[in-house]
Amino acid sequence: MAGAQGGWVLTATARSPTNIAVIKYWGKRDETLILPVNDSISVTLDPDHLSATTTVAVSPSFDRDRMWLNGTEISLSGGRFQNCLREIRQRARDVENKEKGIHIRKEDWEKLHVHIASYNNFPTAAGLASSAAGFACLVFTLAKLMNVSEDAAALSSIARQGSGSACRSLYGGFVKWVKGEAANGSDSIAVQLVDESYWNDLVVIIAVVSSRQKETSSTSGMRDSVVTSALLQHRAEVIVPSRILQMEEAIKNRNFGSFARLTCADSNQVINTVERWSQFEGAPQVAYTFDAGPNAVLIAPNREVASLLLQRLLFFFPPPPDTKLEGYMVGDTSILQEAG
Ligand code: DP6
Repeated sequence: MAGAQGGWVLTATARSPTNIAVIKYWGKRDETLILPVNDSISVTLDPDHLSATTTVAVSPSFDRDRMWLNGTEISLSGGRFQNCLREIRQRARDVENKEKGIHIRKEDWEKLHVHIASYNNFPTAAGLASSAAGFACLVFTLAKLMNVSEDAAALSSIARQGSGSACRSLYGGFVKWVKGEAANGSDSIAVQLVDESYWNDLVVIIAVVSSRQKETSSTSGMRDSVVTSALLQHRAEVIVPSRILQMEEAIKNRNFGSFARLTCADSNQVINTVERWSQFEGAPQVAYTFDAGPNAVLIAPNREVASLLLQRLLFFFPPPPDTKLEGYMVGDTSILQEAG
């Protein structure tokens, strides 16, 4: 390892958006490797509004790996962080920065420590898939810094070990997480169905009714469902496989009617306002879906319908001070700054 008196620091920064599942991942068949019981499909959002931005720094002067989330140091002792770090370190390659006179050899990465700073531009753990954006970004940024050559599919299977839904945030547009069959998880990866430009009329509206951390985490909610719900196996084996096929078809054909029906069917909560509105003769159709938190995600086929929907929501639910209603377009994961 060469570098000016070991006093150097090399950094990489990237940004990853969150994603919203329209056919949900719910239930694991392997808790450690994070292998799901069913395939899922999501839409990746525009990173300008709902994303994690992560900077990873490496320096010989760091004596241990450390991480700060939104400015507060958090523990990296959890298995999920360690698994992601280990998987990326194993794939690290030589890095040369001529400007700074640094040459890190492949084998040096095992001895070097990293400092990670990550920021979410939206509430953490409030059911808006902050862990999806966070782990996707962590893995993507580490891979850039360590010059990892693996493609997005391979990175998705590493991000999956941080948080299942994170594997889908490695791609923009519409993304399918294939549950896979292998016991070691090698084929449980995300694939892009269509990119962010394919159906770019869609507008996703997030009604943040509470930015408090959700009371039940997705992880424990899923665990309880696997143990207590007889319906979950039926969902995974019978309902979801046919829904996945229909959803892929709806996305390919940009068939909003079918997309909306399937999205709503897969979300087990009901918004009366949206339902009633969609039942009116001639009323534009919109889709709604919920994750584990209380916040509603609404999807309109275009900007005109999105603006009508927003007017209606604001009329029925005049926003208290911390309510946020915003429209997002379909987006992509992007590197902000290469290692330097
Ligand atoms: C309801 O990916 O947060 O958002 O894998 O335990 O970290 P862990 O769970 P997480 O669960 C997301 C569940 C969901 C549905 C989905 O995004 O598919």
